[in-house]
Amino acid sequence: MDNLIEAIKQLKKEKNALILAHYYQQGEIQDIADFVGDSLALAQWAAKTEAPIIVMCGVHFMGETAKVLCPDKKVLVPDMAAGCSLADSCPAEEFAKFVAEHPDHTVISYVNTTAAVKAVTDVVVTSTNARQIVESFPKDEKIIFGPDRNLGSYINAITGRNMLLWNGACHVHEQFSVEKIVELKREHPQAVVLAHPECKSVVLKLADVVGSTAALLKYAVAHPEKEYIVATESGILHEMQKKCPQTTFIPAPPNDSTCGCNECNFMRLNTLQKLYDCLKNEAPEIHVDPEVAAKAVKPIQRMLEISAQLKL
Ligand code: 13P
Repeated sequence: MDNLIEAIKQLKKEKNALILAHYYQQGEIQDIADFVGDSLALAQWAAKTEAPIIVMCGVHFMGETAKVLCPDKKVLVPDMAAGCSLADSCPAEEFAKFVAEHPDHTVISYVNTTAAVKAVTDVVVTSTNARQIVESFPKDEKIIFGPDRNLGSYINAITGRNMLLWNGACHVHEQFSVEKIVELKREHPQAVVLAHPECKSVVLKLADVVGSTAALLKYAVAHPEKEYIVATESGILHEMQKKCPQTTFIPAPPNDSTCGCNECNFMRLNTLQKLYDCLKNEAPEIHVDPEVAAKAVKPIQRMLEISAQLKL
């Protein structure tokens, strides 16, 4: 493994490549990345890098977002099969039809979507900026929010909006078991429950803090003396534990698991070996239809501009 890590570092240097990794990646991939972050931060890094090659260690839509922002760069992903159940829950043709049926609505799409869905979107959001971006529109603005019904319901609840929701969800966040979290809370009465807003509302009701991966991490770093139950993909525990070595982080279990934690099988497709191979072969490479990319870039840029104004 040490040899593999050295070989990746060497190739990265030779090719002047930037390795980006989401918090849901395996620890060893996070450790070798130039930058580890949430979906917003990954898009921000892609938008500002001068490196000719970006390796996106995450899932397909993250690579696609980077490619749309940087059409002249080579965007590689370690495993092209690393998809996203949430993006899959929103087929572009059906979403475009839904949008066409509501011509008086502004379309806000979560970043976990294909470029083709972003192409019929007015502004993209991530879980870090969804609330602020929704609130940047007048109270009576008619809004379609897709595809995550859980995030959409949560934003509706905290902003008092009544956005029209697409009926999609993330298979990992849907899986958290209320009974098992209640049981964990009984065993650890002092533990703070952290939850990602892609979780169902019954899970969010049990949470003390609801936020994006970056927000949950920030909270834990600011309060390292506490004990935590963490209801999001368990890859985030790596960075939490690294930043807060004395703190106990307990992954919230899904309904049907023996391992006790909740992993995204798509995120786990990426391995160090595949990262090495993709740097060496400069493949698999993300391609986006230029016409789709020309439309998709606008709502992503709009998100980045609003986030910059809000200092997010
Ligand atoms: P954030 O990266 O915004 O926390 O969202 C997590 C996620 O769903 C990534 O697919």
